[in-house]
Amino acid sequence: MNKNIKIITKYWDVADLKKIKNYESFGGYKALHKFIKDKNSDKFADEIKNSSLLGRGGAGFPTGDKLEAVAGSGEKERYFICNLDESEPGTYKDRAIVDNDPHKLIEGIIILSLIIGARKAFIYINGNYGKQEEILENALEEAYKKKYWGEKILKSDYNLEIGIFSGAGAYICGEETALINSIEGSRGEPKMRPPYPTEKGLFGKPTLVNNAETISNISWIVIYGGEEYAKIGSKNSPGTKLFVLGGAVKKPGVYELPLGVTIRELIFEIGGGLAKGKEFWFAQIGGSSGRLIMEKELDAKLEFGNKDFSIGSGAILVVDKTTNIYDLLLSWTGFFRRESCGKCVPCREGTFRLWEIAKRLQDGEISEADKKAVKDILWTLENTTFCPFGKFAAAAFRDAVEKLKILK
Ligand SMILES: Cc1cc2nc3c(=O)[nH]c(=O)nc-3n(C[C@H](O)[C@H](O)[C@H](O)COP(=O)(O)O)c2cc1C
Ligand code: SF4
Repeated sequence: MNKNIKIITKYWDVADLKKIKNYESFGGYKALHKFIKDKNSDKFADEIKNSSLLGRGGAGFPTGDKLEAVAGSGEKERYFICNLDESEPGTYKDRAIVDNDPHKLIEGIIILSLIIGARKAFIYINGNYGKQEEILENALEEAYKKKYWGEKILKSDYNLEIGIFSGAGAYICGEETALINSIEGSRGEPKMRPPYPTEKGLFGKPTLVNNAETISNISWIVIYGGEEYAKIGSKNSPGTKLFVLGGAVKKPGVYELPLGVTIRELIFEIGGGLAKGKEFWFAQIGGSSGRLIMEKELDAKLEFGNKDFSIGSGAILVVDKTTNIYDLLLSWTGFFRRESCGKCVPCREGTFRLWEIAKRLQDGEISEADKKAVKDILWTLENTTFCPFGKFAAAAFRDAVEKLKILK
């Protein structure tokens, strides 16, 4: 596997790509020129489908299928939304994209919007990302002056308006239906699906929601083609992925690697292994909502569709043997208790109860009744909540019980 192939980060350290002329000097906006020249949305929709690109927002849904559903809808009005909510703890890859290469993201937004026939696109940005909002505002202004978006893009008949919408930093607003509610001015809580946003999304119209990293792959696919993209990474998970490595490693940071790389390679080769004097205990894959991976499981591949764990946001937390597991449990459960949107009882109550038990565990006051309650609460969160947040809130606690034996 060639671990050096870079699609998103290739020029991050070479130039200040926030300046449009630097981005253009490395081939930036060529994909948009190509798209406008060919005037053939179907061709580029096919390229994206052939690339087998899977959404980088966590679920790994095929981008080409969602795009096709919106592009093929009979509705005249359609919307595109870039999901830049990024509130998973330990995750800052979308923020890094904006910090290092905002125009690659904007170019992808424009192309995807034009393919699906949207005339209005939104960038939904986490309310805590003030600096990134400013970077995007400046980049959008530069791109507008160059006629890359607005009326008659590059003198064509394409029109597109792009707006930034700042959320309030609520974790659940990263979930696409809650995000749509938030833009519409309603409470940020998930909606029943179906209908899916591709059918009935923003203002009841077909809407394509994509994660910022997913979108940043689009200009590459337009230039080099879907088939070339599909050759990178693993068979079932093509392309590269941004991984955010953190915790007790020597070299924490954002790394772009082909999907299919193993957890061991990421931590011990790329991240330089454990920091001086630390010994590996376990790794958490996918942020606070992720599963715990023990030493003997480190050769598992980081790719979508893995049955034992989800790569989620791509954040990898390395935990060493000196870590106090009860502090960590309190931090996880405290986060989910705070961020539960409160719409459904199993999650609103379950996350609160789990946090209370984590507190008692830390204080050494755990009772037999608590131990039994943990089993019931975890089952309830995993099986009865309205949206996947419940499963997310239970994942690490379940592994702490089963793999780390915290209740023994
Ligand atoms: C609780 C929850 C939180 C989510 N948070 C995010 C997020 O912060 N950013 C994101 O892109 N997707 C997030 N998602 C996934 C989105 O709902 C959606 O699947 C994604 O934005 C689609 O983009 P993609 O197909 O490019 O991955 C979240 C999902 C859930 C259930
Ligand atoms: S599972 Fe939690 S976050 Fe999802 S709808 Fe229910 S209360 Fe809200």
